[in-house]
Amino acid sequence: MGSVGSFAIEDSIAIITIDSPPVNALGFAVRQTLDESFRRAASDDAVKAIVLICAGRTFFAGADISEFGKPKQDPDLLAVLDTIESGAKPVIAAIHGTALGGGYELALVCHYRIAVPSAKVGLPEVHLGLLPGAGGTQRLPRIVGAAAALDIMVSGTPVPAKKALALGMIDALAEEGRLREDAIAFARKVLADGQPLSRVRDRQDKVDPDKGNTTLFDDFRRKNARVMRGFRAPASIVQAVEAAVELPFHQGMARERALFHELHDSIESAAQRSTFFAERQTVRIPDVPASTETIPIRTVGVIGAGTMGGGIAMNFLNAGLPVTLVETSQEALDRGIGVIRRNYENTAKKGRITQEQVEQRMALITPALGLEALAQVDLVIEAVFEQMAIKKEVFAKLDGIAKPGAILASNTSYLDLDQIAAATSRPEWVIGMHFFSPANVMRLLEVVRGQKTSNEVIATAMGLAKKIAKVPVLSRVCHGFIANRVMTRRGEQANAIVLEGPTPQEIDKAITDYGFAMGPFQMMDLVGLDVIGRDDTERSVRGDLVKLDRLGQKKNGGYYDYDEARKATPSPVAASIIADFAQSKGIADTGPQSAEEIVARLLYPVVNEGAKVLEEGIAIRASDIDVACILGYNWPVYTGGPMFWADTVGLPKIVAKLEELAAHHGEAFRPAKLLKERAASGGSFTRA
Ligand code: 3HC
Ligand code: NAI
Repeated sequence: MGSVGSFAIEDSIAIITIDSPPVNALGFAVRQTLDESFRRAASDDAVKAIVLICAGRTFFAGADISEFGKPKQDPDLLAVLDTIESGAKPVIAAIHGTALGGGYELALVCHYRIAVPSAKVGLPEVHLGLLPGAGGTQRLPRIVGAAAALDIMVSGTPVPAKKALALGMIDALAEEGRLREDAIAFARKVLADGQPLSRVRDRQDKVDPDKGNTTLFDDFRRKNARVMRGFRAPASIVQAVEAAVELPFHQGMARERALFHELHDSIESAAQRSTFFAERQTVRIPDVPASTETIPIRTVGVIGAGTMGGGIAMNFLNAGLPVTLVETSQEALDRGIGVIRRNYENTAKKGRITQEQVEQRMALITPALGLEALAQVDLVIEAVFEQMAIKKEVFAKLDGIAKPGAILASNTSYLDLDQIAAATSRPEWVIGMHFFSPANVMRLLEVVRGQKTSNEVIATAMGLAKKIAKVPVLSRVCHGFIANRVMTRRGEQANAIVLEGPTPQEIDKAITDYGFAMGPFQMMDLVGLDVIGRDDTERSVRGDLVKLDRLGQKKNGGYYDYDEARKATPSPVAASIIADFAQSKGIADTGPQSAEEIVARLLYPVVNEGAKVLEEGIAIRASDIDVACILGYNWPVYTGGPMFWADTVGLPKIVAKLEELAAHHGEAFRPAKLLKERAASGGSFTRA
């Protein structure tokens, strides 16, 4: 018997239990154990039916992603699945936790699937730049039909058990906590019924009606064009489902295999797989051991109910934590709470939460007009105006009010956290918790450690992130921390090259074609030109646009002109302001010509800044910078983030271009020491 399972027979039913922590991924040892166990069950005449169940927190979480790209070890997953499906005895998959990817594909070769109500099943391979490669693209359409299968596999969203039952993805629900017993009872019933074994692969009833229905697939591609843009996997999934509908099973499987290999070998998938592990790596901090004690956080205070404060509060309300929300006036408080309610009501309208949940969450808010209300909370997050004097005043006052042992956090975007901490008598309790706008949506939480922040406080903030569904990235103190600091370089270059020839639309197009949802000028118009860079003292194109009341979308004009439907067109007024400004500064049309050059000019400086952030020890590892940019700035995940991308471009190429730019435009472009070293030594930022 393999090393990660156990085999028992109860009254003619074999129970195969796999126990491979943490998530029973289908690595070599698990495949070997499955193979041996099913062979044993097949050859033992005492066994009439088989229950397959997992120990620990979940059913199989899929293929072992860490084995991808490494030499294969037999038995491979398809062979194991074939052994299970072709057996003569009924097999019942007993599912708890999440049956994902190869894990659910394994359940699909079993003859029946039973799950507890809290379980979820799904095929999330698309998030790794892959398609379900163990028959999922061929079997799922055979039980739910092509349309539902497309939705499930292209979104990658796991389906809760009750819905899965309604769709036919599972056959029965077990009682919570009684999965093993209920699965055995189910197996007995199957034996008693004596029905011939049915296999998903043999079913045609759900796919035959769509034979020749090209509209179904064309419509799907059209409707989902926006979310599929730039990714390779979704289009391959659609092709594979078309094959499931049009071709006999074994030919469809061959098509799936070919498409899977193409994706597996693509940079996009390598980038997405790297991001999967990078997101889970961020909590490892060399000098803060995993065993560091954390402080229980049961109540939260938020100071400032503006753009950020409201969103920050929502994260905790969503997690069921009471929030005391402090403002300076009743009016500001009412406005802030009104925005929170509206956000929840909108979510309820979309059916994502119930009206009852809206009320439950709103009831967790305690509004207050003075910091005194924060005397008993475990964690305070300050989100007042971005001015050092105000922040210092707030923290000094808070120091006199908050209980000993409370964590005092600031959401500052750029200010020196150590100075803020110095306004208190307890800097070891002060930390940065930097959310990204909209704070209830963006998944990044930059945790900023000051010089004196204690390990316990750091560990608590990092741990808390997971509870509020954020990914934490630890930063040390510097202007802008990680994400804002590196991404500022992109904005600076956009503003610079718009004076050197390329138009705002050419620059935006180059950046959106690279994969960002929006270009820098579209973004500025959306946010409002008066809001960005409020404190700029130097004359700028943006400043000149503001003087003409061209504040962006809200005024139907900024860098672009907008019609009533907010559709953007190139603006002759903006073009002439840009031309005048360039002329007054004596700047010639010598900027980047092609989209590729624009991308290099805007994004190589981001890579360079990332190298500096690493060199200075602001970020722990290159992949943390990638995670920060992907989750804080929607950097296209299929490029892997700036540092992973730099490795795929080739570091020597980036160094050469930066040197060339430094020669023409100044020292700011000079490649960082670390970047030059890695380039010279053939090293990389993100490869092992
Ligand atoms: N392979 C290898 N390691 C995996 C893994 C997998 N499929 N899934 C999770 N892990 C590891 C994580 O890296 C993490 O390791 P660490 O503790 O060393 O950092 C550990 O398991 C725990 O994972 P999480 O922190 O994510 O635990 P959660 O409880 O929050 O979530 C989960 C559990 C929902 C199962 C989540 O881990 C998940 O979504 N996993 C990936 C599922 C997936 O994408 N499956 C498809 C794989 S590809 C495939 O099957 C191809 C097939 O079609 C041929
Ligand atoms: P905002 O102007 O929308 O909100 C600030 C709120 O704080 C206002 O409602 C104001 O009345 C309130 N306030 C001011 N002084 C106060 C005090 N002493 N006590 C209680 N409330 C007080 O500002 P925004 O955008 O929410 O920014 C807040 C902080 O978050 C700033 O430090 C900013 O740099 C940071 N931040 C902002 C992001 C953004 O995209 N807007 C992103 C990440 C961080």
